[in-house]
Amino acid sequence: MKNVLVTGACGQLGSELSLVLEKMTGTENLVISDICRPPAHLSHLQFLMLDILDEQAVKQVIEEHSINVIFHLAAMLSATGEHRPRQAWTLNMEGLINVLDAARTHKVDKVFWPSSIAAFGSHTQLDKTPQHTIMDPETIYGISKLSGELWCKYYVDRFAIDVRSIRFPGLISYKSPPGGGTTDYAVAIFHQALKGEDFECFLGENTRLPMMYMPDAVEAIFKLMQAPKESISVRSYNLAAFSVTPGELTLAIQKHFPHFSTRYNPDFRDLIAKTWPSTIDDSVARNDWGWQPQYELSEVVNDMVTNLRMTIDD
Ligand code: SER
Repeated sequence: MKNVLVTGACGQLGSELSLVLEKMTGTENLVISDICRPPAHLSHLQFLMLDILDEQAVKQVIEEHSINVIFHLAAMLSATGEHRPRQAWTLNMEGLINVLDAARTHKVDKVFWPSSIAAFGSHTQLDKTPQHTIMDPETIYGISKLSGELWCKYYVDRFAIDVRSIRFPGLISYKSPPGGGTTDYAVAIFHQALKGEDFECFLGENTRLPMMYMPDAVEAIFKLMQAPKESISVRSYNLAAFSVTPGELTLAIQKHFPHFSTRYNPDFRDLIAKTWPSTIDDSVARNDWGWQPQYELSEVVNDMVTNLRMTIDD
């Protein structure tokens, strides 16, 4: 990787990925971008205000900075997308196509783009969801992810651009909050526990979803991006670490905070979650590029609690 561009760098994934990227590329070869100012922990990086819907601006940045690799993370998540479907579609689709097209015209070596478990739907086999299966997403976010997967594959097949992608489960992290997703409860619950307050959960107690700790997600992206071309057999990989329900997550947190409790008040996000896989078969990623998660639920809970405590103490 020489000159790298990250879009959506202020988001949950972008803000952590950018710091790890910096170690690999050096600060001078990394350009991060978003439509809002970066948080303090990214303020030493080269930052550009970049609206990915501005096709010319995207091309200009790639040209001016001789970008070879793009991590295109800017998107609207599932729950916000249901409130603003047209904007979600435009941002998620037009943004991706702008990036893919700029990558084609400027001969960018590689593009990474996150897909999601949201690309599956209620007719999918939701237990041990296979790599290849029925995909009939019911949210506009999921529809944009499934369509995006097809656009990526189209650009690979038609224009020989090397686009790689992962269908991420819910991501748990302590450095930056997620925004507007169905899996966000799995981060918010920790913040409530640390504040010594109970949690009101917008998913039902037994709604099981696949989740992953951020260091595993970042590691997966690098492993995938560094895998030799010949080992890549699909463009959007299923990926799993562990699956958990809000009830089980509450029990795990109670080991650290015995008085903590969760009230359940499921809303439309619970209906969304019920159309997503509960567990994932990620054997293709394991076989193709040696994917192996490091963090199970209890390790994630220990690490989240330790790090959030330090943030509060600071
Ligand atoms: N975390 C996302 C969401 O909840 C799914 O990829 O919208």
